[in-house]
Amino acid sequence: MCFHIKWIRSELLINLARQHPSTMSVLFLLLSFVVLSLAYQTRPCTDFIEHAFTVVDYAWPTDSAREDAIMDGTFIQTNNIISGVNVYKDSVFVTVPRWRLGVPSTLNKIVVKDGVSVLQPYPNWGYQTIGDCHALQFVQSVAIDPNTGLMWIIDTGRINFFAADGTPTQNICPPKIIIYDIDKDEEKDRYEFPDSVANRNRTFLNDIVIQYHGGKARYAYITDDFEGRLIVYDRKKSMSHFYSHPSMSRAMDNITISNETISVNDGINGIALSSDMAYIYYGRLSGFDLYQVPTKTARKPGKPRQFSESVRCVGSKPAHAAGMTYSKDHSLYFGGLDDNTVYKWDINKDKRRQRKSFKKVEMKTVETFIGDPACVTFVDILNFDEKKNLWFSANKLHKYFLGTMDFSGNSGSNVLIMKVPAGTKGYLSGIRKGKQKY
Ligand SMILES: *[C@@H]1O[C@H](CO)[C@@H](O)[C@H](O)[C@H]1NC(C)=O
Ligand SMILES: *[C@@H]1O[C@H](CO)[C@@H](O)[C@H](O)[C@H]1NC(C)=O
Ligand SMILES: *[C@@H]1O[C@H](CO)[C@@H](O)[C@H](O)[C@H]1NC(C)=O
Repeated sequence: MCFHIKWIRSELLINLARQHPSTMSVLFLLLSFVVLSLAYQTRPCTDFIEHAFTVVDYAWPTDSAREDAIMDGTFIQTNNIISGVNVYKDSVFVTVPRWRLGVPSTLNKIVVKDGVSVLQPYPNWGYQTIGDCHALQFVQSVAIDPNTGLMWIIDTGRINFFAADGTPTQNICPPKIIIYDIDKDEEKDRYEFPDSVANRNRTFLNDIVIQYHGGKARYAYITDDFEGRLIVYDRKKSMSHFYSHPSMSRAMDNITISNETISVNDGINGIALSSDMAYIYYGRLSGFDLYQVPTKTARKPGKPRQFSESVRCVGSKPAHAAGMTYSKDHSLYFGGLDDNTVYKWDINKDKRRQRKSFKKVEMKTVETFIGDPACVTFVDILNFDEKKNLWFSANKLHKYFLGTMDFSGNSGSNVLIMKVPAGTKGYLSGIRKGKQKY
């Protein structure tokens, strides 16, 4: 652990009271109490379930196409689990990583057919062909720019690297990034990573954030979980580079979730970008430390020493976390796997208390945003929409990897897509309308 700090599971009201001692604020406090009570105390977490899946299924063109896919093994239903979730306008996009065989479509949009949520391959079935390197092979995360409707899709290019049946990993295609215009339904850009940046036999592109610079979404920061790298893609120059640091390399840890323990061996995993575009935050799933590095150092290649010197451990997460996301109003949201919780670090609050800048602030006050084992088992990936809701997937992923997932329906849903009012938008929201120059 980078600091031996004792994190405080603070009471929301006490915090509010400390910050708003004036009379005006008493009203605010009461109002907040009412709103928050309505949202989180009187409402059960089940109120925030937007889509629920016991088994994941697709919008097949015909019934016989589905039967054929089951027969020839291109669809192995129990190998399909939703990981990523992103929202644009009224569309909910989800990824089904090809960790194992039998995943017919890795990037999808949720559609409801006869009252049942199913996955419609996105942009279409043609983009899902295994072995066609123009198409998508393995997508776990995408980033959507709410200002332009461009979706930045990272494709690892490899499949079946978490096989449970002894079948080998298939290193099919080079890793790549595709930028897709959702409104126009057309591809805008694509870039293949060279082996020197993302090795086609070893990489695992896990998560992505995008950075505005010069008024445009220019850089993508991508975590390579297996190689322990922070990969940087510069769209303007059509170039990429990477940085590595001991904080990013693979490590082993055990995580216990609702009495089941999973061993995890991973490197840099979840990533978030501050809404002022200044700092990248990242961490491992197999550890508690949360790190920060300035974008002004990371975005430029060839500065390994400066990069290493500017990596800072900001504190320890209260629990293991996979994904994380940063809000417009400077809070970092991440899962707490051991605790069946989504945590929120209000960075402004800690800044004020510590009288420190973003560059120096330490993570000391972490609040529970939502916590309930009934709905929040294995929070995987989180993202905001433009209506101030936090969306996340809770997918019981430990059970998928342990082989204990119950697909019969007797244990309830396996994947929940949750939508919880958060009172703030995502880090990229409205960025071009802002006064700051990026
Ligand atoms: C990837 O593996 C293949 C097959 O072993 C090998 O021929 C190729 O050189 C490897 N490429 C890299 C970049 O390691
Ligand atoms: C994880 O659990 C296994 C089995 O109990 C144990 O052998 C191993 O030392 C643990 N690893 C860590 C990093 O705690
Ligand atoms: C975990 O195990 C304890 C002790 O065996 C038991 O009381 C508890 O109900 C279990 N919790 C879950 C979520 O299974």
